[in-house]
Amino acid sequence: MNRWTKEDHALGADAVGVLEMVMRYHQETKHHFRRYARSLGYMDWANQPDPFRRYRGSPLVSLPRLRPEDAPHSPPYEDLYRAGAIASAPVDIRALSRFLEYSLSISAWKQAGEVRWALRANPSSGNLHPTEGYLLVGPVPGLLPMPGLYHYTAKEHALELRAELSEQGFASLLLGFPPHAFLIGFASVNWRETWKYGERAFRYCQHDVGHAVGSARIAAQTLGWRMLLLDGLDDGTLAALLGVDRNQDFTEAEQEHPDCLAVVWPADQAAGVADEETNSLPLFLTYDSVRESVAQRWHGKANRLSRDDPVRWQILDQVEVACWKSSIERRVVELKRRRPTVETPVDSRRDVPSVAPCYSSAGQVIRQRRSALAFDGITSIPVGSFYTMLARVVPRVDRDHCQRPMPWDVLPWEPAVHLALFVHRVDGLAPGIYLLARDPAKTNRLRGAMRRQFAWTPPPGCPHDLPLFLLETGDARALAVEVSCHQDIAGDSAFSLGMIAEFEASLRQYGPWFYRRLFWETGLIGQVLYLEAEARGVRATGIGCFFDDPVHRVLGFDDATFQSLYHFTTGGQVEDPRLTTLPPYSLDH
Ligand SMILES: Cc1cc2nc3c(=O)[nH]c(=O)nc-3n(C[C@H](O)[C@H](O)[C@H](O)COP(=O)(O)O)c2cc1C
Repeated sequence: MNRWTKEDHALGADAVGVLEMVMRYHQETKHHFRRYARSLGYMDWANQPDPFRRYRGSPLVSLPRLRPEDAPHSPPYEDLYRAGAIASAPVDIRALSRFLEYSLSISAWKQAGEVRWALRANPSSGNLHPTEGYLLVGPVPGLLPMPGLYHYTAKEHALELRAELSEQGFASLLLGFPPHAFLIGFASVNWRETWKYGERAFRYCQHDVGHAVGSARIAAQTLGWRMLLLDGLDDGTLAALLGVDRNQDFTEAEQEHPDCLAVVWPADQAAGVADEETNSLPLFLTYDSVRESVAQRWHGKANRLSRDDPVRWQILDQVEVACWKSSIERRVVELKRRRPTVETPVDSRRDVPSVAPCYSSAGQVIRQRRSALAFDGITSIPVGSFYTMLARVVPRVDRDHCQRPMPWDVLPWEPAVHLALFVHRVDGLAPGIYLLARDPAKTNRLRGAMRRQFAWTPPPGCPHDLPLFLLETGDARALAVEVSCHQDIAGDSAFSLGMIAEFEASLRQYGPWFYRRLFWETGLIGQVLYLEAEARGVRATGIGCFFDDPVHRVLGFDDATFQSLYHFTTGGQVEDPRLTTLPPYSLDH
């Protein structure tokens, strides 16, 4: 079956059947105490997919390899969260290089004995990196003299030209967008995760998309750029736009699944006129306009990633079809020019414990981000830092600007994920289970679905506008380890957490395709917390391996109204002395 055309979705099932398929996939890929989700059960090393996709034969444009001190300079980390604090950089090749460096590039090589592997700015489950990035940009000096669709190659920090676009075609794609806007698209080689994780892999690919969207949104912010997911688009149009529907022409190349497209633009270019309140952005991208705009002349041929054909899992084929987005929402997005405001720091509010700001640059924090392999079981974090970290993941709408703070302005849907926290070592806070309602309007709904005996009391000194509740005091370390597939990192940390999604109602409201968006939102939360951990002098790790229903039982969820989709942990890391760290790229050109 050709899975990449618009008609495929219709082959799947009717709307109810498709929803059931997604619910069944989710149910069947849960880990249980006595049974993990199905996978091969062994590592087929000889067939491991190459983590680097290349399009052989396409022109390669190297991006300048910039030193940390080179322009464009990185703003202070804390400025990322002060609206209007960062001046917009012009969209030129150096700024694009920084943008991709901070979002998708290699950040270090690790070596143990003879074995070497690359780490990237964006984390990935199992370091398998299914997410591929694409840019659709105008004739930026230093790139090719015409607009083009480029594939980003992390190994070389370069752009491969996939297709040339006429000026007119490009202009029609970006009609209605602010000046100097460009598009970034993501697609996943799901096989990279399936190779190791079998049936649960589809979930991990979606987490990784969320991390990539988050890393790109934050990278854009370092340059004074904004970014917004164009979520009205259908997957068939996206596949055609990114050219990933063409890979099937070469039977030897593993497929890429289209994920999402976002527009990026300098924030000072938003509204056309200074005193204009809003700038409405209609979405003009349609399958026909894309087919007309993208040139017929394509370059390059996707490389084969594995020796043998991908192992097929029927339920993965089914969920890919069931989650395929064939609907188009003609959504009108309101873009507003950023006016400078100063964020109220968490520690300036009454009774709130003080927190030391991070003095590093944003670039430094992004470059040093790593997953901890182990925590020391000792390090605690001050309660002020804890509250600041949590405040950064609450997408509170700014009263003056009527828009969500960075990076939550990238997601055009209402927040649907909350945090259940296992607090182990936070100075000034009793250990126990807490809940952060990222959308305070949902607090009662959560409360109604959770254990009756939970206390729901505001913790001492908690900022008034942080919707955090103490549910139960107690030592949750062993519990956190147990439900996180017995991984010590969940209990040796300062705190770990489960990301609780408004599950069944979201899928019914938006459609089965929203299943993927729920995971993207969790990935974005994870990306913010990864950087926050580095900024507060600790380290973090995403946890995709957890026992789903045991987590639900701890919290009292007994149906599919809420589901935990992703876990996370933060604490004082223990370095592995057997590993050496090498620079990401040589700087000799
Ligand atoms: C979605 C996701 C799930 C992950 N799950 C686990 C996990 O269960 N256990 C673990 O030790 N690390 C986990 N990690 C951490 C990855 O192994 C790590 O991101 C990867 O090795 C790359 O390393 P880096 O984060 O230092 O770049 C996860 C990461 C992501 C993004």
